[in-house]
Amino acid sequence: MKVFVTGGAGYIGSHVVKALGEKGHDVLVYDDLRTGNRWAVLHGRLVVADLADVQALDEAFRQFRPDAVMHFAASIVVPESVRNPVEYYLNNTACTLNLLRAMLAHGTGRLIFSSTAAVYGIAGTSPIRETAPLAPINPYGTSKMVNEIILRDTVFAHDDFRYVSLRYFNVAGADGQARIGQAYKEATHLITRALKTARGEMERLDIYGTDYPTPDGTCIRDYIHVEDLADAHVLALDYLAAGGASEVFNLGYGHGFSVREVVNAVRRTTGIDFSVAETGRREGDPPELVAGNEKIKALLGWRPLRDDLDHIIKTAWQWERKLDSLTRTLSHGEREKRSGG
Ligand code: UFG
Repeated sequence: MKVFVTGGAGYIGSHVVKALGEKGHDVLVYDDLRTGNRWAVLHGRLVVADLADVQALDEAFRQFRPDAVMHFAASIVVPESVRNPVEYYLNNTACTLNLLRAMLAHGTGRLIFSSTAAVYGIAGTSPIRETAPLAPINPYGTSKMVNEIILRDTVFAHDDFRYVSLRYFNVAGADGQARIGQAYKEATHLITRALKTARGEMERLDIYGTDYPTPDGTCIRDYIHVEDLADAHVLALDYLAAGGASEVFNLGYGHGFSVREVVNAVRRTTGIDFSVAETGRREGDPPELVAGNEKIKALLGWRPLRDDLDHIIKTAWQWERKLDSLTRTLSHGEREKRSGG
């Protein structure tokens, strides 16, 4: 199949592009490289452009004529969304409208959409099922919820349009061969920050809040390996291709770990006893997010193969060390270029 992948040079997108390539799909990555990287695209072609640029988008659709779209491109940092809601709605919601308009104009009727557990807010139940009310507590979650509503309305209006929305829980880990992984300019995610602290890139790791209504007072999250998450996208594509109806699925393992448990696992896996400080709560954090995953297992036949926190951390650790040498090589190349070498 010809698959148009927005944000395919980013962390999650690049792992899905790799999985699509392994299955023999033809891929076009559409990414403005704001947070993505050219080297992360292991398969297919890359068009460097912004989803806000409707002409470039139209041209890419006209040339590639995709059978399906996977939409990863988005801003994803919860506290940043609290500080900068307008930018989040523009990049996450307005750009999704541009994409939908292009899909409808070019007759591409299948979409796999990257949604998030953040649409649930403080769910009050654990694990959370897809039928739980949507009540996001930060603009990031709201921007994704609005997109889900737009998709639902689009299905009602257009017979030939179908989608799968995947509500990701906490995605972590990296490619088993350490070719790709998280490479944000500023790391915000817990496991990555803990690993950077273990490497000495950060002085200490702050635990944001120890007074949550959880057994050890710190927030609980469902950490899912990015390769298991990528496999689910390939299954969702097959499902839509086989005529499956539009659906929303949670994507997580169905059990969670507290911040303290993650810190201990990172110390255990790396063998490094890095320093940790307990600080106040971070804005916009729900106490507990754990996925009810029966639906995706039943309808898509998804079977997680890497449900092991130590394995998640180990692959991320391997990647962090690789990233360090990659960054050094790249900045060395930059210096050579500037000095005419
Ligand atoms: N945390 C710390 N210290 C840190 C970083 C994080 O204590 O240095 C805590 C956070 O407060 C939170 C937990 O670790 O309680 C996980 O935080 P992350 O930043 O790793 O992830 P989030 O749960 O905030 O968000 C992630 C994605 C979202 C997605 C959400 C769904 O970034 O896109 O998971 O669960 F919506």
